[in-house]
Amino acid sequence: MKITTEFLVVGSGIAGLSYALKVADHGRVAVVTKREISETATNLAQGGIASVISSEDSFASHVRDTMVAGVYLSHEDVVQMVVESGPQAICDLINWGVRFTKRADDSYDLGREGGHSKRRILHAKDMTGQEIERALVEAVRSHPNITIYEHHIAIDLITDAKVGGGGRPQRCLGAHVLDIRKRQVLTLGAQITVLATGGAGKVYLYTCNPDVATGDGVAMAYRAGASIANMEFMQFHPTTLFHPNAKSFLISEAVRGEGAILRRSDGTAFMTQYHPLKDLAPRDVVARAIDNELKVHGDDCVYLDITHKDPDFVKDRFPHIYKTCLSFGIDMTLEPIPVVPAAHYLCGGVQVDIWGESDLANLFAIGEVACTGLHGANRLASNSLLEGVVFADRVAQRCLARLAEGAQPLPEITPWDYGRATDSDEEVVVAHNWDEIRRCMWNYVGIVRSDKRLDRAWRRLQLIDEEISEYYWDFYPTSDLIELRNITTVAKLIVRCAQQRKESRGLHYTIDHPDTDDLHWKQDTVVRKRF
Ligand code: SIN
Repeated sequence: MKITTEFLVVGSGIAGLSYALKVADHGRVAVVTKREISETATNLAQGGIASVISSEDSFASHVRDTMVAGVYLSHEDVVQMVVESGPQAICDLINWGVRFTKRADDSYDLGREGGHSKRRILHAKDMTGQEIERALVEAVRSHPNITIYEHHIAIDLITDAKVGGGGRPQRCLGAHVLDIRKRQVLTLGAQITVLATGGAGKVYLYTCNPDVATGDGVAMAYRAGASIANMEFMQFHPTTLFHPNAKSFLISEAVRGEGAILRRSDGTAFMTQYHPLKDLAPRDVVARAIDNELKVHGDDCVYLDITHKDPDFVKDRFPHIYKTCLSFGIDMTLEPIPVVPAAHYLCGGVQVDIWGESDLANLFAIGEVACTGLHGANRLASNSLLEGVVFADRVAQRCLARLAEGAQPLPEITPWDYGRATDSDEEVVVAHNWDEIRRCMWNYVGIVRSDKRLDRAWRRLQLIDEEISEYYWDFYPTSDLIELRNITTVAKLIVRCAQQRKESRGLHYTIDHPDTDDLHWKQDTVVRKRF
């Protein structure tokens, strides 16, 4: 089946949906999402969205905190633009129906998180993402120009080179998309294609990301010829619940923002030894400190202690975390929560300019899939939801201006070629490779790296990649196979960027190059496919 549209959006989190709402009055929008519309990382976000709202705060302070957390690799013009656009982005969300938590005097309750020198996190208790997703889904569902394709997974981007017989691709023309339930590949031709596919936490064995976080956008953009940057900067969240049945449930940094203290099993508070900001140090510092504590003391986890706070306050401020911990037999008002770090946020991604456009014309990327220059070597907590809304608006402005110049006719796009593909009789291969990649990345490309471990990971991934490439075209596409190919590509991109960066900065720490080297490495690592 063949469909054409003005705007194709892949992904349905905060970035994709707010972009869809911004352009929907000007043309048809197709939103493609691989599970139910709300199955996104946005929906799981607890902490909130950072913006300068308080009269005691300033843009300069938010800019400084972002630059410090990003270890000065963030692009200052982008940081400035995002921070200054923050209040308008918050107004957009409120106008779309998002209800942030207020205080008794009707002012917004502002939380604090690691690396922020002021209280500036708007939140909906500890379910901010769920509230944002709810409001945006309601708004897109009621817009007549937006068609939502749930249970559809994009397989690959369509480029001028693919339809025109080769060469280096210059322009994106849409995507081939698998209708997972009907097992049919659709050809979706689009004037503008926007990747809003989120992150890639599933590349690692332990992650607090949802199952959908398989780096699809980065992998597709790379295969289509777009530049990919800073993939070595995978952020590990310091505190996810340590429990055999908890599937890395996140314990928001806002808990530390309200005074929780990290302790060893013997009760000693240890962050005093690592950073002047102690438990509210930037995330890379806290995750590395915990990693070190676990290795030195041979413990399985550390403990997050908020028992000194009024239990009613804790239950009211963190109802979701409180209930979830209780369901695992932990009453956080009475006992410390066992926690460990887990993969949380990809700071690198599809390299885009300050208008969100990649170096493949008409291909844009917003949200976690993009590398805009905001996060540098380590994202400041709660800057990601902000980035998603601000860049959705920038991209919308750019796309509308481009279409106003006159839509380019789409060339004839050939349908998906099934070749001699058959049904797979070897599902075990997919499961095995998937598991091997995630273990390999956790063990060799984790919080602390070395040249040797990275080389080892590269060799393993190379072998798996060859095996998948052989296997891939023999079978009908399935979402498992598509995701496996994508996590393999993304894992290799992470290792390639990590191998290039011969220094330690922010989230990339290697024992072989432990210092930050501004002279040679205050620059992005960029990789591009050869054609
Ligand atoms: C959290 O609630 O700790 C996550 C917030 C974020 O990653 O920005």
